[in-house]
Amino acid sequence: MNLSANIAGVTLPNCIMNAAGARCVTQAELEALGRSHAGAIVTKSMTPLSRTGNPEPRYYSFPGGSLNSMGLPNLGYPAYAQIIPSLRSFGKPVIASIAGLTEQDFFDAAEAINAVKPDLIEVNLSCPNLPGKPQIGYDIEASQQLLRRLRHIISVPMGVKLPPYFDPVHHSSVASMLEQVGGVSFLSLINSVGNGLIVDPDQECVVIKPKGGFGGLGGKIIKPVALANVRAFWKFFQGRLPIIGTGGIETGLDIFEHVLCGASAVQIGTVLVEEGLSAFDRLAGEL
Ligand code: DHB
Repeated sequence: MNLSANIAGVTLPNCIMNAAGARCVTQAELEALGRSHAGAIVTKSMTPLSRTGNPEPRYYSFPGGSLNSMGLPNLGYPAYAQIIPSLRSFGKPVIASIAGLTEQDFFDAAEAINAVKPDLIEVNLSCPNLPGKPQIGYDIEASQQLLRRLRHIISVPMGVKLPPYFDPVHHSSVASMLEQVGGVSFLSLINSVGNGLIVDPDQECVVIKPKGGFGGLGGKIIKPVALANVRAFWKFFQGRLPIIGTGGIETGLDIFEHVLCGASAVQIGTVLVEEGLSAFDRLAGEL
């Protein structure tokens, strides 16, 4: 079966790739993605300086999915700017995820990374795990302001990674904002469901350490939220903006459901962390 996909004019040999954050922090991890059957190499969201991230334990998995509060551990964009050109040898698209603690961080990362020409840049408006920093994607004016400037800095196709929204009014106001800004060429939906809490009743404590135990939920339990967001944004844009569906994919059938809702390609997070790179082969085999 032909599993190739096209996102904003970029052809992916197959439609299944890693989600930003999953096994994509170090050069070795990025190269392993290159050698795997992933359809693209997506980097960890990068900030100006390298970060070790939040204190451990910061990731917890359970039968329904995962809870994380990694805190943006990454090598810093200068390191990724050096690594990205060498990843081209794997013959698949490279998608750079950029993030920041301030607006200026985004601009600086965008400029440095755009200069090394990844195939696509995914602007992460939805990191839920920075103490004291709200997710930009929940502030429509701030998102608009940021994207208005980024679209003039970034010349490769630019997409946005959005947090989940839970109300049709929010779906349509975010979509209208993106349409008004222009220059957004694809959507990645959704980031983790922010600020969930899991309690261990035996130990009488929370299961991860940062932020008093609050963290982003991923995996099976978020699939209905992911599908709803893919569907809502697809209905607004009617196919004018390709959507990369992310959230709750564990089987080929889950991928099919994302595609039925409007996704052109998909990303895997929790299942990739838990199962390893062979998840790409298994999922492709299940389609
Ligand atoms: C982290 C988590 C996210 O969901 C995200 O979009 C970016 C970073 C993190 O905690 O590292």
